[in-house]
Amino acid sequence: MDCTSSLDTLLDSAAASFGTPSYVYFASVIENRASMLREAFSGRFELSFAAKSNPNPAILGFMKDQAEFLDVSSIGEFRTAVAMGWDAARISFTGPGKRDFEIRQAIEGGIGELILESVREAIFADKVAGELGLMQPVLIRIAPPTVPKGFGDQMAGRPSAFGIDWEDAGRDIPAIAALSNLRIVGLHIYSGTQCLKPQAICENYRNFLDIFRQVYGRGLAPPEKLVFGSGLGIPYHDGDMPIDLDAVATGISADIEEFKAMPQFAGTLLVLELGRYLVGEAGYFLTRIVSIKESRGVRIGICDGGMNNHLPASGHFGMVMHRNYAMHKVGGRGSAGLGNVEKVNLVGPLCTSIDRLAIGVMLPRIEEGDLIAIHNSGAYGLTASPVHFISHTPPREVLIEVAGMREITYIGQLPLA
Ligand SMILES: Cc1ncc(COP(=O)(O)O)c(C=O)c1O
Repeated sequence: MDCTSSLDTLLDSAAASFGTPSYVYFASVIENRASMLREAFSGRFELSFAAKSNPNPAILGFMKDQAEFLDVSSIGEFRTAVAMGWDAARISFTGPGKRDFEIRQAIEGGIGELILESVREAIFADKVAGELGLMQPVLIRIAPPTVPKGFGDQMAGRPSAFGIDWEDAGRDIPAIAALSNLRIVGLHIYSGTQCLKPQAICENYRNFLDIFRQVYGRGLAPPEKLVFGSGLGIPYHDGDMPIDLDAVATGISADIEEFKAMPQFAGTLLVLELGRYLVGEAGYFLTRIVSIKESRGVRIGICDGGMNNHLPASGHFGMVMHRNYAMHKVGGRGSAGLGNVEKVNLVGPLCTSIDRLAIGVMLPRIEEGDLIAIHNSGAYGLTASPVHFISHTPPREVLIEVAGMREITYIGQLPLA
């Protein structure tokens, strides 16, 4: 059996066992990604998994053995992670809009580090830590003044809600350092995401190193930890080239070595924070064609799941222009399917024209009942989608491990249909 047919056998069997629409995740792909990163960077970085990319409890549980740390962005993600066995001390908490109760509960829950995005947060965290009689470890998030070209979304380099602007760091870092119940463990920078260009990634990391050097040249105690927002992207669309990880590693190794040779950074842990590169390509979204309409010369497959289940694939999650996600018709890639490929549209079941999964995609002839697999759906899939819009039953989630496949659905267990 070749790779595509064994993949399709598994996808077909997941759809048969658990129904559609559904998400299917391959644990082995996530494991491979984690080892590829460790090998490429020769252990120079530890890994922190961004829970926001896929907060499914079973995935969070699985990630305990794949990454040293976990970054959460709400108290809900923190609670789920702890319930799934994460030691709170291995968890950090980012987010520009942390509410007071979230900061309090995170500190009470023993969170490893709060990632401070403002002096306001710092003052409140200091007050809570003081009341609890403890010293809370924190990282300070810095928003660099520039982000190289090539990132799908950027959180710095322009007016932004994230972190402390570099221009204000000279004022704000000492203000935070003066708070007596916080211990500054290091800095955190996450300035851009979804980049497929090794040179841009390396330039970005060099900007981080520069900021780290400047901050720790000003007399702060040496950092225990410095967090690099990875920015590593994945090839969502046909024609995108996967990022050359070795080129990133080769391009940055000498800079990291030089940095680590400085006495103040010799004992510092360098951490790569990332989500999609670890889990994105491990996931497929499965949807079945409910009905076919020939409309004014266009063949349209109307599917049982659409933007309500997978907002990013519909092009409404940070895309300027809709581009089709890579996808295939399950069972349609063998020699039998290749003869009659044609251009079709795929839409979801919602009553809005923006609910589309593919425009002009080339697929073997589609018929009612066909199963479509949308690739690169392991990150920002279900978690980024408006599942309640039009009240369809939320999709199932399935994890495929060596031991077999199991359902890991956690959203919308209510019997809606
Ligand atoms: C602070 C922070 N960390 C990590 C991530 C994960 O990014 P990605 O999934 O692109 O690796 C993001 C994404 O927006 C982020 O804002």
